[in-house]
Amino acid sequence: MSTPTMSPRKAAQTGAQPRAAIEARTLRQDRWWLQPLVIFIGFSAFVVYATYGAFDHHFVQSTHTRIFYADPYLSPFYSPCFAHGCPSNVSWGNLDVWSWLSPALYILIFPLGFRLTCYYYRKAYYRSFWLSPPACAVGEPHGSYKGESRFPLVVQNIHRYFWYATFIIGGILTYDAVLAFDFHGHFGVGVGTAVFVVNTIFIWGYQLGCHSCRHIMGGRLNHFSKHPIRYRCWTVVSKLNGKHMQWAWASLISVAVTDFYVRLVASGTITDYHHIF
Ligand code: FES
Repeated sequence: MSTPTMSPRKAAQTGAQPRAAIEARTLRQDRWWLQPLVIFIGFSAFVVYATYGAFDHHFVQSTHTRIFYADPYLSPFYSPCFAHGCPSNVSWGNLDVWSWLSPALYILIFPLGFRLTCYYYRKAYYRSFWLSPPACAVGEPHGSYKGESRFPLVVQNIHRYFWYATFIIGGILTYDAVLAFDFHGHFGVGVGTAVFVVNTIFIWGYQLGCHSCRHIMGGRLNHFSKHPIRYRCWTVVSKLNGKHMQWAWASLISVAVTDFYVRLVASGTITDYHHIF
């Protein structure tokens, strides 16, 4: 976040040097706008697709399944499946009272909250959508800056609790990836199986590289030497954390690709090639 320009009076009171009065919004000569533009397009595309995916849960007559399920693949947008119409082998219960509601809507709230409050995503969408600021050393259009110390942005601090919730969902997605090897009781591997396994790896790379996870592993310790296991976990998490942006994008794309793949197979648009051993 950029610091508001200090007034000459304030500078005189504090003894600090006031910022130079430069009219230009930035003196940068490079294409600083490219990254926020790409992020804006990428996030917007995902939001449009995820909204479509979350609402479209129609029944497919030809396969007698919902569009979010193609045996043995369950779309990650609809997992865990609690809704009316979930196939019995992936159903975690039937909340008939909410049958009018797309099952994705009350599941996605956790990954969505997790990503919205993620440290990386915050930086990315503050820059790309709020232009606050759009890039380093580029002036922002807003007159004041209150940071995340007041409502509504103070809510960003619940990130850790979303981490706990999505940790459980990550476990369920891993279970779905295991089920993707089960073809009517026989062990098999299909294109969809590979899609699910890759998606699970990306999801865990993102989940475990979280800054909150790093603190859970290594925070509030005075001596790592007295906690060798936590130190090892913290070291691994720190390595993942160093590539957190890459994991964030990889998992965002892979979860959409996985949902899209399931829809293509469930609708009969493509056939899932698999081999049963
Ligand atoms: S900081 Fe990105 S997931 Fe926690």
